[in-house]
Amino acid sequence: MAPTTESETQAHQAVVREEFTRQAGAYAAAPVITDADRIARLVGAIDPQPADRAIEIATGPGYVAMALAARCREVVGIDLTPAPIAIAERTSRERGLANVRFQVGEASHLPFADGAFDIAVCRFAFHHFEHPAAILAQMRRVCRVGGTVAIEDLFASENPARAAYYNQVERLRDGSHTRALALSELVAMTAEAGLELERIHSDRLTVNTAAWLASAQTPAAKAAEVRRLLDDDLRRDLSGMRPFSDAAGLRFIQRIAALVCRKL
Ligand SMILES: C[S@@+](CC[C@H](N)C(=O)[O-])C[C@H]1O[C@@H](n2cnc3c(N)ncnc32)[C@H](O)[C@@H]1O
Repeated sequence: MAPTTESETQAHQAVVREEFTRQAGAYAAAPVITDADRIARLVGAIDPQPADRAIEIATGPGYVAMALAARCREVVGIDLTPAPIAIAERTSRERGLANVRFQVGEASHLPFADGAFDIAVCRFAFHHFEHPAAILAQMRRVCRVGGTVAIEDLFASENPARAAYYNQVERLRDGSHTRALALSELVAMTAEAGLELERIHSDRLTVNTAAWLASAQTPAAKAAEVRRLLDDDLRRDLSGMRPFSDAAGLRFIQRIAALVCRKL
């Protein structure tokens, strides 16, 4: 694979910081983010060993890093946005974890030596990156040969028009969303990065639209446009989000995949 020098633009980093500063508290409390079973499934698939050093890229409030810390020697969580890092630091203190530390930093320039970690993981953040392959290359770089590189993220339809519709809805809700990749793109990206894909797990999440919009504090005009697009999707099956309406309100499906790879 040719080395990549692409990195996130300053303008996009500013949008990410603004979104995740505003959302930090609500995000850290969201059920899908705190879901202990989901975190345990990812950590179980990574299978950390007691002597391992791990890094979580775009760690946010740090829940995956903290779960790894319970099973590893040492864990670092790194994120562009100071607000979630402050929450992660407070939570890890409250949990009495002495082997995890958090720092502010940007994923396309990880300030660590080649092969510094046994595990590099990134959850729910690839759809916020402008250059996901460049960030995966960084994760691979800081992982030792034979170590584990894992990604968990949303995925979009294999049909480009349906994927574009889905990504438009996501971007309206949260301006820092760039693009959820199709599962085949995620798989191809790991192969192009020189990683051996060992395991994939996928699942579906039923999302309540009102709660989802509230957690991102989406401005009213954009929230109305999201609802309009979902209503249209409900009638015409346009994206794979499969919206439906019942007593709980307007809901839809998000598809999630975890890919666990070995560095060759
Ligand atoms: C949806 S949150 C995911 C947080 C955490 N990984 C989790 O699973 O709860 C996305 C996070 O990615 C971070 N982020 C986005 N782009 C980044 C970049 N280029 N470098 C580091 N962090 C980034 C944001 O600041 C935000 O905290």
